[in-house]
Amino acid sequence: MTDPTHPVLAAVAQGLGARHRTLPPWLFYDRRGSELFERITELPEYYLTRAEREILETRSDDIVRLAASGAEDPLHVVELGAGSATKTQLLLRAVVRLQGACTFLPVDVSEAALDGAVERLDREEPGLRVRPVAGTHHEALPVIGELGPRRLVLFLGSSIGNHEDEEAVALLSAVAEQLAPGGCLLLGTDRRKDPAVLLPAYDDAQGVTAAFNLNLLHRLRRELGADFDVSSWRHEARWNDAHSRVEMHLVSTVAQVVTVPGAGSFHFEAGESIHTESSIKYARPRVERLLRDAGFEPVEVLTDANERFDLHLARRVQG
Ligand code: AVJ
Repeated sequence: MTDPTHPVLAAVAQGLGARHRTLPPWLFYDRRGSELFERITELPEYYLTRAEREILETRSDDIVRLAASGAEDPLHVVELGAGSATKTQLLLRAVVRLQGACTFLPVDVSEAALDGAVERLDREEPGLRVRPVAGTHHEALPVIGELGPRRLVLFLGSSIGNHEDEEAVALLSAVAEQLAPGGCLLLGTDRRKDPAVLLPAYDDAQGVTAAFNLNLLHRLRRELGADFDVSSWRHEARWNDAHSRVEMHLVSTVAQVVTVPGAGSFHFEAGESIHTESSIKYARPRVERLLRDAGFEPVEVLTDANERFDLHLARRVQG
């Protein structure tokens, strides 16, 4: 049996043991993976980060006013999956400008990314108190409740798109439970668009996304002693129209057996793939349904000038 106290091993045993081979996307974010993701956000093809940053550059004051409305208590900010928190800085600056001070809780599984964010924010944003939380969303959720009553939770980047609707509602409900009525959520979602725009965003010319996907196999070699021959795997991005999602796969280019100590041996046919990520692309009503099902009332949707990306501001309703 696998060791349930080793989450990486448990995830690999489960994902590779199933008929439809999968590995969960949280496995991407070791130190190297987090660095590669930062490089992805700067790629010409990866429009998501730029579109979201544009909204925050132009609308942060509006977001802060809406989120703070009707309350005396100062607004404090939590970000799930903060990473380097570069875009978030725009919003935090608006909070400090409008109310004088702010506490910011960046949550991330990568301590390296958090360290960088804390160091930069401490230096560049006086008035901001930064309290990093290293861990998964579920580990961090109880900490949200410890901030003052007026809270704004950020879930940016369309990271919610890694989760099918049922799981997304469970995650957003867990956030809602930590918020008092009136507390707010700012949710970033990527919109459905032409696959000719979507696919290059997940298969860039420089091969950074390919390196990000393949790093997963390097990680399993490093951390678990798995004997993946990384050169016999290739990156592939696919548009799945029926599920409105971009899928990333690692495709085995040959028939092979891979052994993961403690999890077993796994046979792959030539052309068989491991599905490593889904990035759902949303129509607005779908997001609004997720928000309502999780206990939020949609307040406003903010969009970039090219209408590629949405920021949904929603308020917790009486639970
Ligand atoms: C961080 C999950 C939003 O799905 O666009 C980027 C991760 N994967 N390129 C996304 C990712 C490949 C990203 N999220």
